[in-house]
Amino acid sequence: MFYPLLLLASGLWFLYRWQQTSRLHKMGNKLPGPSTVPIFGNALLALGKKPNVDVFQLFNNAWDQTILAERKAIDIDELITMGLKYGEQYGNVIRGWLGSKLIIFLMDADDVEVILNSHVHIDKASEYRFFKPWLGEGLLISSGEKWRSHRKMIAPTFHINILKSFMDVFNQNSVNVVNKMKEEMGKTFDVHDYMSGVTVDILLETAMGITRKTQDDSGFDYAMAVMEMCDIIHQRHYKFWLRFDAIFKFTSFFKKQVNLLNIIHGLTNKVIKNKKETYFENKSKGIIPASIEELTRSKESYDSGLANDTKTLADSVFKGYRDDLDFNDENDVGEKKRLAFLDLMIESAQSGINKISDHEIKEEVDTIMFEGHDTTAAGSSFVLSLLGVHQDIQAKVYEELYEIFGDSDRPATFSDTLRMKYLERVIFESLRMYPPVPIIARKLRRDVKIRTNNYVLPAGSTVVIGTFKIHRNPKYYKNPEVFDPDNFLPENTQDRHYYSYIPFSAGPRSCVGRKYAILKLKVLISTVLRNFKMVSDVPEDKFVLQADIILKRTDGFRVKIEPRRRISTGV
Ligand code: HEM
Repeated sequence: MFYPLLLLASGLWFLYRWQQTSRLHKMGNKLPGPSTVPIFGNALLALGKKPNVDVFQLFNNAWDQTILAERKAIDIDELITMGLKYGEQYGNVIRGWLGSKLIIFLMDADDVEVILNSHVHIDKASEYRFFKPWLGEGLLISSGEKWRSHRKMIAPTFHINILKSFMDVFNQNSVNVVNKMKEEMGKTFDVHDYMSGVTVDILLETAMGITRKTQDDSGFDYAMAVMEMCDIIHQRHYKFWLRFDAIFKFTSFFKKQVNLLNIIHGLTNKVIKNKKETYFENKSKGIIPASIEELTRSKESYDSGLANDTKTLADSVFKGYRDDLDFNDENDVGEKKRLAFLDLMIESAQSGINKISDHEIKEEVDTIMFEGHDTTAAGSSFVLSLLGVHQDIQAKVYEELYEIFGDSDRPATFSDTLRMKYLERVIFESLRMYPPVPIIARKLRRDVKIRTNNYVLPAGSTVVIGTFKIHRNPKYYKNPEVFDPDNFLPENTQDRHYYSYIPFSAGPRSCVGRKYAILKLKVLISTVLRNFKMVSDVPEDKFVLQADIILKRTDGFRVKIEPRRRISTGV
């Protein structure tokens, strides 16, 4: 008994000595943060507190001094309350130690710009590893040359011309969900259930080319499996013990994950195989699909194009960090042909333009299915429930839609979406107060100097960017806790720090689906609002938020719908 104890004590002693003398520790301890205990750092702070919040999340909320002051729009449990205290105490840069792991929380737009604008600090934090069995080395988590070459290949598949060609899919699926929602008339229900379903349907069609007609049960099973996988990963973030693979492997979650991944990868493999067969069959008949280059550089005009006078609010809001999506769209004129991302990737791989294996294509399609699903489902559910609360704002949105559509049932065209300027401000404001991705985490490979106090963040640390907090900083928004679409009036956006609004992240690793998401949200939300008036009995200050990978309401997005009387609201 003595020798094992001696061994353990010496091991702990060496670990302690190593911690104290390591470069990471020396540099990390120059940053402000709560006091630590040997070996554990700040990890013990979480012990004895409510288990359903992890330390990662604790610090995400820790910097929210405004919320601490107002206790508004957040269900605060004891662990978060403790974190909030530290936020008040330490300000815009906080360091925390999870054992030997250094986590640095940034909440100032100037500091965030240094990280997000960089082509060096683009590696994702280790917390993203739970996605690996599912997404492999897909765009969300890959790094280095692989990420660079795949990003270069995938970004053009989100070209505005290709997105325009998805208008029919967006419209048709929006009408389908409206028809399904009719059953809920007069009842209180969770609108997220519907938004989640329609988002998966749209993605199956636009990412994989599986239409309702060609969908068999495997499409439905896939959608269910995607949702359940999201749930398992979510649980791994907030149930501390599930973070360890050695423990996770012996739980029922792991068994379930294996089954779900069989379904998910089974379908992606099957679809890729079929698509490739079709590609070769067509090729042998001399039918060659349009290449990405042709689709995006065609001189044919479709709908209204992107003339300067029809630029959307997004063009000015995101102009400060113009990314590859913007550069892709320059000289855009439009194209009619619709090809799913998968078709485009197969085409560009087969034509030799890009080197990508079937396995890598599968990883990218799985990644897009994940990234495009939960984010837009949460985004649209927040907008609809917020409009249920803010009836005056809803009346203004409807007035704009009435001006565009009158009492007609016609589907929205791309040029209609350019006229939905107030709705766009509402969507932006919802993404400000309730960003579906509330934090972004990066692993630093090199030291980096930030603007706050010229602090140097050491290589090897994890940087967590608190989008949620930045979006509610009174330095950038006059009344940050008030839902006010006018925050996005041109006169209010022009002088604001670009990195004070980062719902889609920014810089080289920004969201590749940003334009897809905004276009889809406009079609979906406008279709719902042309058919129903949203009502919420739950006021905004009673929304219970759950911040994990994707921000949601734990109380459910409870709303009621009333039939829409298609007359002018007169506002
Ligand atoms: C409201 C909807 C959306 C929001 C708020 C959102 C937000 C984000 C954010 C914040 C990131 C950066 C994540 C990080 O660095 O950890 C990201 C990355 C990404 N998003 Fe989105 N997203 C949305 C919709 C979509 C859609 C619809 C798609 C695809 C159809 C998509 C595909 C991706 C991909 C592939 C990445 C990884 C990009 C890279 O690392 O190069 N997203 N998104």
